[in-house]
Amino acid sequence: MFNSQYQHFSNSFAFANLPVIFVFKSVLEIMNILILGSGGREHTLAWKIKQSPLCDQLFVAPGNGGTRLIATNIELQVNDFQRIAKFCLANDVEMLVVGPEVPLVLGIKDYFVQHPDTKHIQVVGPSKESAQLEGSKAYAKQFMADFGIPTASYKEFDHSSLEKGIQHIKENKGPYVLKADGLAAGKGVLIIENQDKAISSLKNMLEGQFGNASSKVVIESFLDGIEFSVFVLTDGDSYKILPIAKDYKRIGEGDKGLNTGGMGAVSPVPFVTPSLMDKVENRIIKPTIHGIKSRDLDYKGIVFIGLILVGKDPYVIEYNCRLGDPETEVILPRLNNDLVALFKDLENGKLNTHQISISDDVATTVMLVSGGYPQSYEKNKLITGLEEASDLLVFQAGTKYAGGKTTTNGGRVMAMTALKKNQAEALKSSLAGAEKIHFEGKYYRTDIGFDL
Ligand code: AMP
Ligand code: GLY
Repeated sequence: MFNSQYQHFSNSFAFANLPVIFVFKSVLEIMNILILGSGGREHTLAWKIKQSPLCDQLFVAPGNGGTRLIATNIELQVNDFQRIAKFCLANDVEMLVVGPEVPLVLGIKDYFVQHPDTKHIQVVGPSKESAQLEGSKAYAKQFMADFGIPTASYKEFDHSSLEKGIQHIKENKGPYVLKADGLAAGKGVLIIENQDKAISSLKNMLEGQFGNASSKVVIESFLDGIEFSVFVLTDGDSYKILPIAKDYKRIGEGDKGLNTGGMGAVSPVPFVTPSLMDKVENRIIKPTIHGIKSRDLDYKGIVFIGLILVGKDPYVIEYNCRLGDPETEVILPRLNNDLVALFKDLENGKLNTHQISISDDVATTVMLVSGGYPQSYEKNKLITGLEEASDLLVFQAGTKYAGGKTTTNGGRVMAMTALKKNQAEALKSSLAGAEKIHFEGKYYRTDIGFDL
């Protein structure tokens, strides 16, 4: 059985230094926690959660070469709800922290709530319906329209309205922003200058370029501005704003070339002034939470709002229902609060009792990627130099550990995070760390944050 080696663990060791002989987890309110995912985001979550006195045993499924150092990696796939539930029951897991969007959009929260034996396990994340804010662009656009939240104007089309879609493109100037309605692993947004090309792309999308995800397409007006990310923790009623971040999505220097999962990030974001944050809070965050509440959505988790600053005004580019990667690698190191305590109070409506405390230090992260990424790349390259980068927070992503060696196991390999008094120092440190790690084909951007 995949879980047999864990289910008999004793929980008493962790409290050997307490002046009590027998302590019960329920008295101390400590718990076993399982994090789902295998990226730098999940390594960062594990690192932060591990610091909480409320965390007893920590598991990550499937995890990576970094999470194994601070938690127990479990070979479970993030969409295999049945086995995840079985593992949680066998190992007394009381909190399930969901890293990636797919299990949320597929309804992992509903699965746990609907089964009598797992409904006591807290799933940190929104229900299936609420996760449509990320899972369906059309749902998100309608939500924003209903609650007066500023975003690009849009129209949606499906196969039966293709002719109307073509007409729409002909009547409007480019650039054209075409979005597959459903999840498409971050690749479902096309920005096209040329009208004919936009028309052929619309046809291709509706004919299944992104499978079912593009059976409906949203066409938006193009917004010209600079992007940043806001992360809001909500219990569906009140909310708390986590540190602001900016990620760098393109593979090349100067933010050129193909889109990636993210090549680096900084927090805070110098151009996000208090007056801009006031606008974001009043025009976007408050109406979003109001919308969640008035729709009676079961949303107890993170709302990640991708924003664009056009002139002096913020607009929503997208909602995500989870933390960002690599934004997590810069926001959690700046958060002074106990993350488990915050998560826990999402469930009992006590989020409001917390005050968020954010470090004044600046965090930067530079992602080391495999040569060729985001196109084809090789795996299983030996990674060396980890010991030399011990002055940094190294959050591993596409790595694995076997036979005493850490090797590459994905496109984005690890995030080199530095936390310093100012951005220049932090970037210098992230880049110096990037130099210290070696694997064949290593690539990283040296200009993260330089435009700010
Ligand atoms: P999304 O998946 O909606 O975040 O879109 C991916 C990327 O496409 C965003 O990060 C933006 O850089 C870009 N994008 C999306 N929508 C627009 C828009 N309406 N105007 C300009 N750029 C956009
Ligand atoms: N870094 C963007 C995302 O996580 O979607």
